[in-house]
Order: sequence, then C-alpha cells, then structure tokens
Amino acid sequence: MTAPSDKTRVLTGITTTGTPHLGNYVGAIKPAIAASQDPSVQSYYFLADLHALIKCPDPRRVQESRLEIAATWLALGLDTDNAIFYRQSDVPEIPELTWMLSCVCAKGLMNRAHAYKAAVAENEAAGNQDPDKGITMGLFGYPVLMAADILMFNAHKVPVGRDQIQHIEMARDIGGRFNHLYKGQYFTQPEAVVDEQVEVLGGLDGRKMSKSYDNTIPLFASEKKLQKLVRKIKTNSLEPGEPKDPASCTLFQIFSAFATADETEAMRGEYANGIGWGEAKNRVFELLNEQLREPRERYQGLMEDPGHIEQVLLQGAERARAEAAPFMDRLRQAAGLGRFV
Ligand code: TRP
Repeated sequence: MTAPSDKTRVLTGITTTGTPHLGNYVGAIKPAIAASQDPSVQSYYFLADLHALIKCPDPRRVQESRLEIAATWLALGLDTDNAIFYRQSDVPEIPELTWMLSCVCAKGLMNRAHAYKAAVAENEAAGNQDPDKGITMGLFGYPVLMAADILMFNAHKVPVGRDQIQHIEMARDIGGRFNHLYKGQYFTQPEAVVDEQVEVLGGLDGRKMSKSYDNTIPLFASEKKLQKLVRKIKTNSLEPGEPKDPASCTLFQIFSAFATADETEAMRGEYANGIGWGEAKNRVFELLNEQLREPRERYQGLMEDPGHIEQVLLQGAERARAEAAPFMDRLRQAAGLGRFV
C-alpha cells in the first residue's frame, strides 16, 4: 500500500458555466476518469464554481451547470472513493488562501495574464476611454484563486488545456514567493500537464467545439436531439460515390474519437469509396448513441436525484477540508495569524 503522502497528487477544476459536451468528454473528462483509476495517484477533481461567478452572473445557469457537471462525471464512472470530488465553494479555506496569496502576488504579474490582457485589448479595439471597462476584480485576480485551488492541496500535476498553462506558471510563481517570504517549504511547485495526444474535437461548424462558439453537441442530449445535431455537422458538397478526405473532416474526427482503431480504419475505407454524407452521419450517430446510451440513462437517474449528488459532493468536501483545514492553520501561523496560546 502506498501512503497517501507518497502518491502523486493530480488536481484539476471544471468551471461550472456550461453543459458538458462531446469535446469536454474526449478532451478532459474521459482522460481524467481514466487517470483517477491509477492507484499511485491521488486525484482531486472539483467544480470551480467560485470561478464560474467571474464569467456568469446568471445564478440559475451556475446552479444548473454544477448539477449537470457533477451528474456527468458520476454517470461516466468517476470512482469517488478514489478521487476526491468536491465543489470549490464547499471549501472555505480556498478563498481564505486566495487572500493570503493575493497579499504576496505582484499586481504586475496579474497585468500580464492573457485573459485580462485580452479584455483590455478588446476595450481598446472598441475605442473605450477606460481600458478596464467592465473588468471585475474577479477577472483580474482569477489566477490567484486558481493558484489557491492548486497550492491548497500541493498538487504535483495539473492537467489543463493549453490556454491554462500561464495560470499554472503563475501558481508556481506565487507559491514560490510565499515560501520565500515566510521562509519555509509550504508549497510544492505544480506542473501543468498538457496531453498532446488528446484531441481537440471539432464542433457543428468545424471550428473547435466550444460553448463560446455555440457549436456543441451536449454529451447527454436525448437520442432524438443527438441525431438532429449529428445531421447538422458541417460537411461539403461532394456527392455519394465521390471519394472524401477524412483528414479535414469534423465528422470523421468525431467518429474516430469514439471508435476503435479497426472501426476507424473501416470508415477510412468507406470515405475512399465515396460513402454519402447522409450515410456517414447515420454511422456517427449510431456509434455515439451506442456508447452514450448507458451513461445517459445513469445521468438522467442522477439528475432526478440531486440529494444523492449533494451527499457525494459533501463527502468529497469533507475529505478535502480534512487536508485543507490543518494546512491552513499552518499557513496562518506562518503569516502571524496563529492563536495566542
Ligand atoms: N481555469 C480553469 C479553466 O477554465 C478551471 C480551473 C479553476 C482549474 N481552477 C483550477 C484548472 C485549478 C486546474 C486547476 O479551465
């Protein structure tokens, strides 16, 4: 048996503003659930619902998204005895640590954050007098909250998309600064893990499948809806009988993300033989539907039992806090906020 302290700690957060789609599944959820089954790893997966407030001031959407995302991970078989699965907002030590880190984090570091710079650039492009127009402290300090998420559990590895690498570097920077200032090895230096193998799935219009492009296929859309959406995937005007190129084809990419290697090769042959788009879409729908049917049923069952999900998440938060609370005590002490006696 490996003691928990010997295990590699892998941590990642999911911002709760959307409904999980096929791209999320292939790019993040599936590899995360697989990784959590490795006995040499302790995984921490959480709903980044405090982060959600930054982007989404719609309480109904945030609430719904939290439930949908939790139900999705559970329906897909996340083993919550192994992985610590919790809501960020159930761990009050995280916002507390965020404040402590804010007090050692250079403002200039935050000025250089991509998301903030993009918002400023947008204001400038729009000719706004104030470059900070509409930018909240939440957006500006986003990387500090994310650093607290990571440093709270001394994560070694943080699986993320490319766009998040800078945030992990900032977490290293901020953690290192705290260690230096308070003369101790409080925080481990986390490492971003960007899986080059994992595919970025195309969406209905061929661009990256993403909520911001409104081109997604929800993972647990009903059978009918799934079929309708698959039919909407953009193809070209080649007729049945004309050979088609799988390399540039979103439909083929989606197929191969779910198919076995043999099935993918067979489909490649069909493309060369000029399979019609209607037929190709039927095959994609059938493959997806076959694989998603069972988890979809589990998902629907879970969505009808929010009390169960609540229980699971509260248990996860309890485990998270069993680590976070004593660590936070140590950090308070380091900063001069310890008890008098
Ligand atoms: N910012 C991440 C994203 O948008 C979500 C996130 C929040 C996260 N806290 C995290 C990811 C901590 C990894 C570790 O994808």
